[in-house]
Amino acid sequence: MQRWVRYMGGRFLALLALTLAAGAGAQEITLRAADNQPENYPTVVGLRAMADYLAENSDGRIQMEVFAGGQLGDERSTIEQAQLGVIDIVRTSTSPVGEFYTPMGVFSLPYLFRDEAHFVSVLEGDVGQELLEGLSEAGLVGLAYYDSGSRNFYTTQTPIRSVADLQGLRIRTQESQVVLDMMEALGADPVPLPFAEVYSALQTGVIDGAENNFPSYGPEGVRHFEVAPYYTLDAHARVPEVVMISSSTWAGLSPEDQALVREAAQASVPVQFEAWAELVERSRRAVEEAGSEIIEVDIAEFQAAVAPVLEQYSAVYGDLIRRIQDTE
Ligand code: GCU
Repeated sequence: MQRWVRYMGGRFLALLALTLAAGAGAQEITLRAADNQPENYPTVVGLRAMADYLAENSDGRIQMEVFAGGQLGDERSTIEQAQLGVIDIVRTSTSPVGEFYTPMGVFSLPYLFRDEAHFVSVLEGDVGQELLEGLSEAGLVGLAYYDSGSRNFYTTQTPIRSVADLQGLRIRTQESQVVLDMMEALGADPVPLPFAEVYSALQTGVIDGAENNFPSYGPEGVRHFEVAPYYTLDAHARVPEVVMISSSTWAGLSPEDQALVREAAQASVPVQFEAWAELVERSRRAVEEAGSEIIEVDIAEFQAAVAPVLEQYSAVYGDLIRRIQDTE
């Protein structure tokens, strides 16, 4: 009898605690977020804006801790940890996400977007939103896209002035099959490496070059300009960044908190875009001042060389490519 009373008493207390937490919306939540870019880089600025929004609008009940600079691992690993619920929120490039949820790889295709305005309308339109929703297949909930401008080649010794100059060069690629195929179409020898390993690979001659936007290449990014002074404006891709939350974390949030997390991610988008726009020009000036040679090329020649890749991937992505191209 006594044991039964104690048992029921315990059950009652546990139930009471749960009810209070749920009923009063009093559940204290700490979300851990990962980013592989350094502190003050626009993606990290975006995540911090999201954290502030969450704290302010929950009276401090929801805290989001942002771990920048790859502290929680490289992109592949942080995506996997988010799938397992070990990390709650991740911001990565969409390129590696394409290895976990194939359609997301479409954004890595060369010369897919006409310009920045086209890029934004695709991300904000049906295709962008569909792909965010589709991430549930990979155990993730897509929250928002961030800007990442256009990607260009840069090299340590051999300036790239035409496609011919890329022949046989060992170029680092993101960990993405699409990017690998693009690199092969251009005649380069692709070397997939995590982002954090690229600087020393350039420095020690393990690779001849890499490709990225001005902010990543520049002094407020990962400073590859220090070891690869030839930067070629071929603009072969415009790969967005994506902010995602673990499906298991998501399932543990109340519908109100889920709505608040979405709202916070949305509120961070204009903050990130603004920080981005400012940094692109500043980075370009800084690397020019530091002595990088900025090389103009005939983009049509690069486009022609990679056209078969778009052709090849139309089988993988179905009508996604056409829908993107048709977006105004
Ligand atoms: C961009 C992106 C990074 C990514 C990197 C890469 O710089 O912001 O998150 O890791 O590209 O080339 O791997």
